[in-house]
Amino acid sequence: MIFSNTLIYWYLQNSRELPWRKTKNPYYIWLSEIMLQQTRVAQGLSYYLKFTSTFPTVFDLAKAEESTVLKMWQGLGYYSRARNLHFTAKQIASDFNGEFPSTFKEIIKLKGIGDYTASAIASICFDEPTAVVDGNVYRVLSRYFGIDTPINSSAGIKEFKKLAQTLIDETQPGTFNQAIMDFGAIQCKPKKPLCMFCPFADGCVALQKNLIETLPVKEKKVKVRNRYFNFLVIKTNDNKTILSERKGKGIWQGLYQFPLVESDKNINKNDIISSDEFVALFPNETTISLFNKKEIVHKLSHQHLHTQFWIVETATSSEAKINWSDIEKYPVPVLIANFLKAFITKK
Ligand code: ADE
Repeated sequence: MIFSNTLIYWYLQNSRELPWRKTKNPYYIWLSEIMLQQTRVAQGLSYYLKFTSTFPTVFDLAKAEESTVLKMWQGLGYYSRARNLHFTAKQIASDFNGEFPSTFKEIIKLKGIGDYTASAIASICFDEPTAVVDGNVYRVLSRYFGIDTPINSSAGIKEFKKLAQTLIDETQPGTFNQAIMDFGAIQCKPKKPLCMFCPFADGCVALQKNLIETLPVKEKKVKVRNRYFNFLVIKTNDNKTILSERKGKGIWQGLYQFPLVESDKNINKNDIISSDEFVALFPNETTISLFNKKEIVHKLSHQHLHTQFWIVETATSSEAKINWSDIEKYPVPVLIANFLKAFITKK
């Protein structure tokens, strides 16, 4: 049996009875769909009933004070949803004479309405075959088809939308969309899904390959750490410098670098001169200048290195043992290699 038939057959026997399922009025469907984002049906229900009885039409919502709307929203969270809802209600009341736009293309232009909500309204109210993809849909499709593309990657978002679009029942898109969401919420649950009694068990890739607990895959968004590096590029009268090997575990283990002053933000010449590292290295007089007037941002997967190269000229330094003419023999990070290229050609 094809996917949508199995799904809709399941839905006929298992669908939840919900107040917004008794109407095709786009105002009510819109309210329910905005409320149910990031909110479970059980929690959203009382808000839906309160809103629809206080504001039975889009004109009533448009006329309300924003503070009243926000007060009624209290407890649902994500208050920008309520502000956008109110903004769009006023627009529909004044610009469209209370008439909700009737195509996906028009609906998605409204403030606070993205792909998911526009697809839900267009399909449920206007029978336009536009597939919804919410957390439930990601779960159902990734498991049944065994897809491990991360659902929060741009490739994943495209792939799942395209797949859902090929599966939708064009004769009853609203029913299909609500069926797949209910199926995800009731049967193909995140934890302990009811695979024993699942109408899709025969064809489900995740069930056959024991991937139920692994799918869907969510990409961990790495938190980027900003670091501020100040390299001291020393030049003595006898043409020597300091390079030392980075020890310990870390990004550049085993590579060579100039003496480094790390700070928690970009610092200026005075900060450098008064740093402990600088004072320890240069008790004598020096001339110091910033080589790159604009910071160089070197991007690694987990770190952004905001880098300044300081040219420090001094008569002598007992620590400076490396000849500038030998510098290219040392393995250095790309960031330093790029600097050297620019510095040496400028000399
Ligand atoms: N979650 C959000 N909107 C829904 C809908 N219309 N049907 C089922 N689950 C939902």
